[in-house]
Amino acid sequence: MSASPLGVFDSGVGGLSILHSIRQLLPHEDLIYVADSAHAPYGPKGEKFITQRSLHIMDYLAARKVKAVVVACNTATAAAIAVLRERYAMPLIGVEPAVKPAAEQSHSGVVGVLATSGTIASDKFLTLQSRFSDRTQILTRAGTGLVELIEQPQFDEAAVLRLLASFIQPMKDKGADTLVLGCTHYSLIRAQIASVAGPDMNIVDAGTAVAKELERRLLTKGLNNLVTATYPVQFVTSGDIKVQEQLLARYWPEPAVVTALV
Ligand code: DGL
Repeated sequence: MSASPLGVFDSGVGGLSILHSIRQLLPHEDLIYVADSAHAPYGPKGEKFITQRSLHIMDYLAARKVKAVVVACNTATAAAIAVLRERYAMPLIGVEPAVKPAAEQSHSGVVGVLATSGTIASDKFLTLQSRFSDRTQILTRAGTGLVELIEQPQFDEAAVLRLLASFIQPMKDKGADTLVLGCTHYSLIRAQIASVAGPDMNIVDAGTAVAKELERRLLTKGLNNLVTATYPVQFVTSGDIKVQEQLLARYWPEPAVVTALV
């Protein structure tokens, strides 16, 4: 049993979709969420830069004495988790596109994966894809521009819907019946994605699976928190605090106080 906090980080607000699943499953854990908003999007930035940023955030979280960290970003997981695991002994849980459940659930045998360009080009994703490509046709598409729209303080829904249609319609035309949200940001606009994809598209993300894996790892190490208090989430950003507060008002259902990442 440990009352120490858990760290969760992403390039921006995307990891809130994972944080939501963690909050539901483990309501008594003390959570610190770091948004590296000054450096979002990570997607096109390259592995070296993303690894440097991830190490910086890990150093911060380690100084805050976290007992485990969730890398709530597919792009950072693909780019950096191996290096993070070499450096830190604490449990580290990453996220990757939910290709396995999608391949199992698809009836047409055609699965679409919407993710960042960095995730799609990564060795980790290519290996994952190759494990299923004999049975399932996997159509990948980089959601270029979406993260920027999701991170904007004023939500431009028309622009989001236009961009989504340009990504999803070609997948539908090729027979995809299951769509993997391979970037944690995209789960925040699931309603818009569902409206563009239509009722026949099964939409899959990894939020619940990540929360369950975190719970399993904490229980294995006896690190779960048995105290019944519920702490407010501590939000930290490398970006503009006012903007972050506006985004949290849109994407996070609880009152939120934001401090600066130092
Ligand atoms: N939310 C992240 C992911 O899951 C990163 C998006 C970005 O910053 O490009 O990949």
